[in-house]
Amino acid sequence: MTKEILKTTMLNCSLDEQSILAFQSRVREVHDNLPNYYATGWVDSPLEDNKELLKSINYVANEIKACADVLVVIGVGGSFLGARAIQEALTPYFGLHKNGIEVVYVGLNMSGAYIRELLAYLDSKQVYVNVISKSGGTMEPALAFRVMRLYMEERYGDKAAERIIVTTDAEKGILKNIADQAGYRQFAIPDNVGGRYSVLTPVGLLPVAVAGIDIIELMDGAKRAATELAEPELIYNDAYQYAVMRHILFAQGYTNELLASFEPGLSKFHEWWKQLFGESEGKDRKGLFPSTVSFSTDLHAIGQYIQDGRRILFETLLHFHEIEGDMQVPFDERNEDGLNYLTSRTFNEINAISKQGTALAHAEGEVPVIQLELPKLDAYHLGYLIYFFMKACAMSACLLEVDPFDQPGVEAYKRKMLELLQEEKEGVK
Ligand code: PA5
Repeated sequence: MTKEILKTTMLNCSLDEQSILAFQSRVREVHDNLPNYYATGWVDSPLEDNKELLKSINYVANEIKACADVLVVIGVGGSFLGARAIQEALTPYFGLHKNGIEVVYVGLNMSGAYIRELLAYLDSKQVYVNVISKSGGTMEPALAFRVMRLYMEERYGDKAAERIIVTTDAEKGILKNIADQAGYRQFAIPDNVGGRYSVLTPVGLLPVAVAGIDIIELMDGAKRAATELAEPELIYNDAYQYAVMRHILFAQGYTNELLASFEPGLSKFHEWWKQLFGESEGKDRKGLFPSTVSFSTDLHAIGQYIQDGRRILFETLLHFHEIEGDMQVPFDERNEDGLNYLTSRTFNEINAISKQGTALAHAEGEVPVIQLELPKLDAYHLGYLIYFFMKACAMSACLLEVDPFDQPGVEAYKRKMLELLQEEKEGVK
């Protein structure tokens, strides 16, 4: 409907413009009420003057790149998914970005094998650590930090403190206390920005800057999105249109949303999206179930179900018109495989045609497809898309009448786990 940088289109199915625009007054109500939520610091932050912050992040990132072979990022949920998503989308499939070093993640699980192998892997490398936790007390990263801190002290002695950077709340939490006492350098997570909305703060920016990504470009893209998507009129706001489309489809019985793309580098971006929507909307027995597929790989895995299984799925298809790096199909005079007819094409062109074919086949199979189109897969447009999804998610959750910014359900497993560990705790008192 609009001329913005990101275009939201319903590729098939009965959702016409009128049924979407019928939500205008409800959307306006939610839009006007959004600032009343405390945790909306991310809404205007890309519009603020963030030059000094970006400069200090780049300064530390440059030091890490000069003194280390690998940065170990410790975090879970919103404290690592965004950084990993951007890194994977914008760094080479094989090898490192020309401006960056290796960035690896720990504290996202409690596998003993994982952390043990990581320590062995690090032994031949120079290491920095960035521990990220808003609350400062989450079990997975806290345990990983305990291990990494001891490891760094054993390897670097008095110099270990210079190699540990802490990203946490500006005022409170166990991690904040540890950092103050040990003299670790710190970046603050704004109090009014929750974990899964924090990727455009130091939480995501420091790791991706170390990986070689231009965080100024990333934030410029987010700034453009924050400007364009501040628009209350549904017809001019593609994020709100996307929120309304998924809301209507949910009401029609399409209970599962599949985020799909044809570029494998986006599969970690899918994971970030899944957490954003799953944790923001899955409440009070409501919410679309967010799931993801990486095509064409998954066409050979769950393509059959999508095409022919229960009609509970709709697809949100991410499409970047330009992907850096491509290759022509080579000519082979033997032509034993019969594929010489494709030699006028590149792989990316065939991939785009396969996307078109998939959308047409899914239309025939009565799978609604929402397409989100962007000009290019780069830092600028990814910054735009991240902001787009956060704004759409906040709108979508509010349309469902759930709080987009809390996560009471996540506490349930933590309580049970701590109850089970309580006996040990009492034993060591
Ligand atoms: O979105 C959220 O709030 C959560 O996913 C948190 O990011 C996650 O639980 C990690 O929390 P913390 O950063 O406090 O360690």
